[in-house]
Amino acid sequence: MHRFFTTILAIAAITIPSAAFAGDAAAGKAKFLELCVSCHGEGGKGDGPTGKALAAAGQPAPRDFTVGDFKLDTDGDGKAGTDADLKNVITKGALAYGGSAMMAPVQGLSDADLENLIAFIRSLKQ
Ligand code: HEC
Repeated sequence: MHRFFTTILAIAAITIPSAAFAGDAAAGKAKFLELCVSCHGEGGKGDGPTGKALAAAGQPAPRDFTVGDFKLDTDGDGKAGTDADLKNVITKGALAYGGSAMMAPVQGLSDADLENLIAFIRSLKQ
C-alpha cells in the first residue's frame, strides 16, 4: 500500500509541473484573433476572408483546426503537428518546410505566446 502511494506521488510530481506550464487557451485566443484570424477564421476552420481568397485562388487553404490533422513534420521525427512542429511553422513559416508561403513566419511571439496559441489551436479540435 505504501508503495502504491509513493508511485502516485511520483506520478503527480512529474505531471503537475507540466500541467502548470501548459498554455492558456484563452490568452491564445486573444493572440489568434489579433494575428491569425484573417486567414484561419474565428473558429479555426481556415475560412477567414484571406483564407477563403487563398482557397478560391487555388492556393493551399489554411489548415482546418477543428479537424486537428496537421501536415508539416518540421523536425523530421516522423510525426506532423507536435508542439515543436507547430512552433516551427508559426515562427519560421510553412515555406521553410515545403508548405505554402502564405503561412508566413510570425515575428515577435514570446514562448508563452506560442504555448498559448498552441493550446488554443488544440482546443478547437472537435
Ligand atoms: C495570410 C494567411 C495566414 C495567416 C495570417 C496565418 N496563417 Fe497559418 N496557415 C496559412 C496557410 C495557407 C496554411 C497552410 C499551409 C500549407 O498547407 O502549406 C497555414 C497553416 C498553419 C498551420 C498548420 C501547419 C501544419 O503542419 O499543418 C498552423 C499550426 C498555423 N497555420 C498557425 C498559424 C498561427 C498560430 C497564426 C497566427 C499567429 C497563423 N497561422 C497565421 C495561412 C495563414
